[in-house]
Amino acid sequence: MYLKSKDLLGLKDITAEEIQYILDTAKTMKMILESKNKKTPHLAGKSIVTLFYENSTRTRLSFELASKYMGASSANISVAASSVAKGESLIDTGKTIDAMGTDVIIIRHPMSGAPHLLAKHVNASVINAGDGMNEHPTQALLDMFTIMEKKGRIKGLKVAIIGDIYHSRVARSNIWGLTKLGADVSVSGPSTLLPPEIDKAGVRVYNTIQEGLLDADVIIGLRIQKERQQKGLFPTLREYSRFFGLDDKRLLLAKEDAIILHPGPVNRGIELSSSVIDGERSYINEQVTNGVAVRMALLYLLTRRSSNESIN
Ligand code: CP
Repeated sequence: MYLKSKDLLGLKDITAEEIQYILDTAKTMKMILESKNKKTPHLAGKSIVTLFYENSTRTRLSFELASKYMGASSANISVAASSVAKGESLIDTGKTIDAMGTDVIIIRHPMSGAPHLLAKHVNASVINAGDGMNEHPTQALLDMFTIMEKKGRIKGLKVAIIGDIYHSRVARSNIWGLTKLGADVSVSGPSTLLPPEIDKAGVRVYNTIQEGLLDADVIIGLRIQKERQQKGLFPTLREYSRFFGLDDKRLLLAKEDAIILHPGPVNRGIELSSSVIDGERSYINEQVTNGVAVRMALLYLLTRRSSNESIN
């Protein structure tokens, strides 16, 4: 099986079978990561460039490590120190990277749709590492991988996504991906942080955290994105935390074996209490580990489209 597109721009655009195929391939990559020698030759001769117009720790580092473990040549463009600072357009920057024979460009951009625009103008595969408020598909894939690993399935699970849904590209990608794989997804947040018509995406919508948490198998907390808030969407962070923060008491509403995920970085004490973050039901660190495996899988699957290699 091959991924249909040369790019991974969002989970809205790919099929349940393709998502499952990426998750299955990531399982093999995780075994490689857990072995003594993490090095594999799957990307030997390939070149990977990360182009981040927004800050990142997890996504950028995990792509860079994934590239290195698989033998690719990888480079990062520091946007502030590049010709972007002289006014070069995204398309011209992309064509310049493409002209150097790059196989994959991984882009994070504050504007929704920027990776889609880039993908139309370059021969390289483009991976969306987060575009504005639109999608963050590799985060959702690693979330789904972690759920599969801990719960053994996704179909039929009650997944509660809690917090700032409006600004969250992680929430959008998870809604696309989880519903395609048959999860029962709900979103909970203050009405000002819920996108209009979100119910049309096939999710239940709640205005209290308590309703979302009830009997949940999986809880995905979201970061309050201070950098994207317009004034007045909620009174204060303290007020937000009082009504939507997840603490040990509220956690009692979920199933006894419910797991807690968060894309990071976490605002400690605001969306999750420290005891929840560091508790035994939190898999936030495992998500980071799984991020490397999922990104290894994606880099492998996108670069092998032109050959007949298979690792399975
Ligand atoms: N989850 C996530 O995208 O984290 P970074 O911003 O650190 O990449």
